[in-house]
Amino acid sequence: MDILKNIPMTHWDSPIDNKTSEEAVHALEHGKIIFLPGLNFSLNEDEIQLLSPTLTSQKRKNISFNPLTLDVQGDMSTAEQHIQLNHLMQRYSQKSLGLVNILFPGYQQKIIPGRASLRTVEISGRNSSYKKDDSRLHVDSFSSTPVNGRRILRVFSNINQNGVARIWQTGESFKTVAMRFIPQIQSISAIEQHLLRLFKITKTVRSAYDHFMLNIHNKMKKDMAYQESVIKTTLTLPPQSSWIVYTDQVSHAAISGVGVLEQTFYLPPTALHYPETSPLHILEELLKQPLVFKHKQAGSTA
Ligand code: SIN
Ligand code: FE
Repeated sequence: MDILKNIPMTHWDSPIDNKTSEEAVHALEHGKIIFLPGLNFSLNEDEIQLLSPTLTSQKRKNISFNPLTLDVQGDMSTAEQHIQLNHLMQRYSQKSLGLVNILFPGYQQKIIPGRASLRTVEISGRNSSYKKDDSRLHVDSFSSTPVNGRRILRVFSNINQNGVARIWQTGESFKTVAMRFIPQIQSISAIEQHLLRLFKITKTVRSAYDHFMLNIHNKMKKDMAYQESVIKTTLTLPPQSSWIVYTDQVSHAAISGVGVLEQTFYLPPTALHYPETSPLHILEELLKQPLVFKHKQAGSTA
């Protein structure tokens, strides 16, 4: 199976026909990466200097932006650069939301924008703990931000100005990954869920879904024998291209590259076209138990 679904869009806001959007959502929800080789996110001259890695605080992987509060975090820039960063990331957030609405019209009104990030630190050779090491295959799960079954959809654009591609690898299907790691994971107790919340380790109560996803994420990254032996596909994601992927579903690793913009979205499982392909459905089927809270408060994403 080709992991990439190519769509030849060259403008962030050009309409597409129904057939293309139906194919796009089918591919996306079945674990493909929507690849937009001609979709460039262009920067003006002032913005190009914002790609210097010295603007990112040491120890951080990226500069982040909250589209709800318009707050930029993690930069060590001057006041003027901070404003430029704000404009750049706000524009990327808006363009990404517009793109998702065009490609996946069924998600409109239901999709929730999360944070955006500017990733200007070279991945290869970056020092980090195994849990933070995105050069190891993993599915995304955020330890402090429970999603309670909501999907994690991410838009990426390679904005490198020196011809440097981002190199990714992808691994096995979500079901194969889950079947391999679930036997190693114990259930979470209600006491543990409430202690994590009480001590503010999680922003909301960690659902059983989040517990299993986080453990799959951690156990995948920790298992070097698995990392070395699992069959991988290498992807070259060139400058001036963009791609969209359910990173909670697609086993992925970022091997090298520098200079990427990313916008995260959350999607309630009820908005999916093919819910049977979702990690929530697959885990509930394998574990034979419901994994999410039904009430609203516990699962809200911050
Ligand atoms: C990741 O989501 O694991 C990293 C992706 C990237 O920065 O290219
Ligand atoms: Fe990831």
